[in-house]
Amino acid sequence: MVSKSSHSIERQAASGGLKPARSTFPLKRTLAKSGDRCAEHDVILPSRALPSPSYASRFRFRRLTRAVLQAMAPNCVRDRTATSTQSRTIACRLIDGYDRLMKSAEPYLSELFRIVSGALRLDLPKVRNYTAFLADKLESDGDRSAAQRLRKLLVETEHQLHPTALSTSTVPVDPETRFPLAERVEPSSFSPPPILTEEQQDTLTEFLIVAKSYAQLQSETLDVALTLLAYGPPGCGKSHLAAHVARELGLPLVVVRLDGLISSYLGSTSKNIRSIFEYAASTPCVLFLDEFDAIAKLRDDRQELGELKRVVNSFIQNLDRLGSHTVVIAATNHPQLLDPAVWRRFTYRIELPYPSAPVRERLWHAYLADVGDFGRADIALLTDLSDGFSGADIREVSLRLRRNVVTQLREPSLRDAFVTLLRLSGGHGEEARFLKALRDSEPEIVARHLRQRDSHLYSSAHIAQLLGVSKATAHRWSTAGEKRNGKTKRTSKH
Ligand SMILES: Nc1ncnc2c1ncn2[C@@H]1O[C@H](COP(=O)(O)OP(=O)(O)OP(=O)(O)O)[C@@H](O)[C@H]1O
Ligand SMILES: [Mg+2]
Repeated sequence: MVSKSSHSIERQAASGGLKPARSTFPLKRTLAKSGDRCAEHDVILPSRALPSPSYASRFRFRRLTRAVLQAMAPNCVRDRTATSTQSRTIACRLIDGYDRLMKSAEPYLSELFRIVSGALRLDLPKVRNYTAFLADKLESDGDRSAAQRLRKLLVETEHQLHPTALSTSTVPVDPETRFPLAERVEPSSFSPPPILTEEQQDTLTEFLIVAKSYAQLQSETLDVALTLLAYGPPGCGKSHLAAHVARELGLPLVVVRLDGLISSYLGSTSKNIRSIFEYAASTPCVLFLDEFDAIAKLRDDRQELGELKRVVNSFIQNLDRLGSHTVVIAATNHPQLLDPAVWRRFTYRIELPYPSAPVRERLWHAYLADVGDFGRADIALLTDLSDGFSGADIREVSLRLRRNVVTQLREPSLRDAFVTLLRLSGGHGEEARFLKALRDSEPEIVARHLRQRDSHLYSSAHIAQLLGVSKATAHRWSTAGEKRNGKTKRTSKH
């Protein structure tokens, strides 16, 4: 005979999209033997105990069910008089307990793992840093009392004697110059998300999902490499991307300039690399290795291949030892200089080249959103005019226009933006910008050039706006070449 209560569990499981757990079968037998006639609603799983049907949830659900059943079965076997109310109370309490534990611990598993790992390695700074981080997280999730208890523990143990070999919790400094080897940026001071192509966004989203579900993936013994390499020309959003990742993960960004790590003293470079990695391992953070090619540049600067090899090896060893606990982002303008062994360590890679027209259009929209009165046609012109410019240039134009509002007390115009772009067109990456050739040209030539580039986009009205002349003048200038060419063509025909 099969008890209705076991049916009830199975039905609940099925309603959550789950297969009935195998562990319900021993219960069926036990309850059948015990002659338990629980009412149908005896073992009602509270609806919030029903997990979503992901693999991890099904796995936990099975464990939960098994635990409940094991706890109930002996009671039923031992005490045949156990009433349905008793068994229902036990089941509900157990389920509630498990449910609360599961729900309350899951978002913090990643920190708990790190605290345990720090404790096992006698790494006190790591334990303390992650405990403080966990307290902040609990508080921001509304659990003030747990946060206070943790903080109290931290205060109480603050003056305990530390083993001397342990690393400190402050940013390490270069032993020779005493300059800090890194800068710590707290997540609150970050700007909006970077504007990316679909492909770049897909890689970033995947990286963030993996980083956020780190604890869950690790518990299912999946090997996760949390390393991201961002590469591309200056001003195209590498640092911006790193800051965004840190903010999304709610972690501070530890920015390390690789050239700052390179010491003139033999052996100190490897020591600096080790201290920065030890620091990153002992504190909740995203480690950002900026100007990453500085290591590779040693090859040219030092003419000392032995040292380069030592530094690269030290870097690789430290990165491998860091494991999958810390998120590491590296940025470089010269990916071709990277050692293949280093390159291989970065499993996620995002190339950030000079932005394409659709990306530039979104950048202009974003950066001019609260500056002046720029319409769709203006943005279309600026998108084309900024061909070959970086996101940083577009941001710079918007900043200068903002300043103009304050200094000149007037709304910025399309002409102001155009003039600023012309001024910015020299310098790094200028070969990619068609505007560079027009920088010192007479307005007539600029007008003609723009018209020839795209006669539809650069109408006389738009050219007039850009050059600050009348429409008639703009028309005359921009069509001068056409007329002359037309005349030449006609004359040559005759
Ligand atoms: N794709 C983008 N989306 C949004 N803003 C961007 C983008 N690219 C650049 N910017 C803007 O330009 C600024 C400078 O970019 P950032 O410092 O990230 O460039 P970088 O690639 O790190 O340059 P460098 O190689 O010189 O360090 C950013 O703060 C951001 O405001
Ligand atoms: Mg940068």
